[in-house]
This record gives sequence, structure tokens and C-alpha cells, in this order.
Amino acid sequence: MSPSWITRPEGAGDVAAIRDINLAAFPTAYEADLVEALRADPQAWLPGLSWLSETPGGEPAGYALLTRCHVGGEPALALGPCAVLPEHQRRGAGGAAIRAALDAARERGENLVVVLGHAEYYPRFGFTTASGHGIRPTFDVEDKYMMALALDPERPIPTGLMRYASAFGI
Ligand SMILES: CC(C)(COP(=O)(O)OP(=O)(O)OC[C@H]1O[C@@H](n2cnc3c(N)ncnc32)[C@H](O)[C@@H]1OP(=O)(O)O)[C@@H](O)C(=O)NCCC(=O)NCCS
Repeated sequence: MSPSWITRPEGAGDVAAIRDINLAAFPTAYEADLVEALRADPQAWLPGLSWLSETPGGEPAGYALLTRCHVGGEPALALGPCAVLPEHQRRGAGGAAIRAALDAARERGENLVVVLGHAEYYPRFGFTTASGHGIRPTFDVEDKYMMALALDPERPIPTGLMRYASAFGI
């Protein structure tokens, strides 16, 4: 059975656990290093938008991060990295962290979120192709992998070129 995941924003003691989750989930240290570079960049890092999901016993298992990016020169959010410890994958930990991060962003009044990732995974959170929203990346990528979501569909969203925070190195 899948545990009920408890979600909470990153706290002061979570830096090592977040690094460990990213190191375990991805083949290289790129994402673990990226989180640390983003945390050190006040233009990219927004307090309260780095989320963990943990087991009822308090073991951090899943992680989702939203950082500042720009679309058409207007502020938006980039989702990622999203990571789950391999032993906890496909049991809801990733989805719980992502939903919690998106809810926190909505509460902050943010609207547009862009993600580059698994085309089969992110639509369950409401993401659709970024191109369908008039948003395009600064690099070549197959259309289906760049997705976007308006947290409040009633509000207009910016269109145009999407630029990540400089830490992404894109
Ligand atoms: C991708 C990831 C964050 C998803 O978190 P998770 O807790 O494993 O997934 P959830 O339990 O929330 O959701 C499970 C669903 O995700 C799907 N899923 C998991 N990993 C996937 C992948 N690599 N590609 C496509 N779908 C994936 C499963 O098929 C499952 O679908 P189902 O509900 O229809 O059966 C996690 O598996 C992970 O860390 N993977 C390795 C790192 C990675 O690829 N990160 C994302 C980069 S875009």
C-alpha cells in the first residue's frame, strides 16, 4: 500500500536530504547541484516554493521545486527538479510534492508555471504543451516535452520566449 504523504516546505535542516533525493533520483549530480545554485540566487529562489513529501514516519522521499523564470519578459515559474527516492517512486510521493508546490504558488498569487519533462507525467497536474499557450523555449526540444499550466485559468498569461534562471545554464 502507498503511504499517505505528508507535504511541507523546505526548512533549514532539509538541505542535505534534498541533495540526497536528487542524487538518488537522477544519474548525475546536475540536479542536486542545480538546486543549490538556485537556492543561492535570490533572483531565482522564492521562499516557500521548495517542497518535500515525507512518509508518516518523517522520512523525506519526494521533492519539487518552483523557481522564478520569465516568459516574454514577464515573471513566471519553472517547475523542476522533481525527484523521488528510487525506493519510493510511483507511489504518489512525487505527485504530492508537486501538488503542494503548485498550491503554494497559487496562494502566493503566481499564475504561469512551465515545466520541461516527461510528457506522460505532467499532464495529470493540468499541464499542456507550452506551444499551445504561445510559449517557446530558447533551445531545441521536441514540442511535447515543454509544458505550461495557468494556475488561474481566468487570468491572462504571458507568451513568447521562456527564459530559465541563469543557474540552469540553458
Ligand atoms: C518522475 C518522478 C518525480 C515521479 O514521481 P513518483 O512519485 O515516482 O510518481 P507518482 O507516484 O507521483 O506518479 C506515478 C505515475 O508517474 C508515472 N511516472 C513515474 N516516472 C515516470 C517517468 N519517468 N516517465 C513517465 N511517467 C512516469 C508513472 O507511470 C505513474 O503513472 P500512473 O499513475 O499512471 O501509474 C519520480 O519517478 C522520479 O524521481 N523519477 C526520476 C527522476 C525524474 O525523472 N524526474 C523528473 C524529471 S522531468
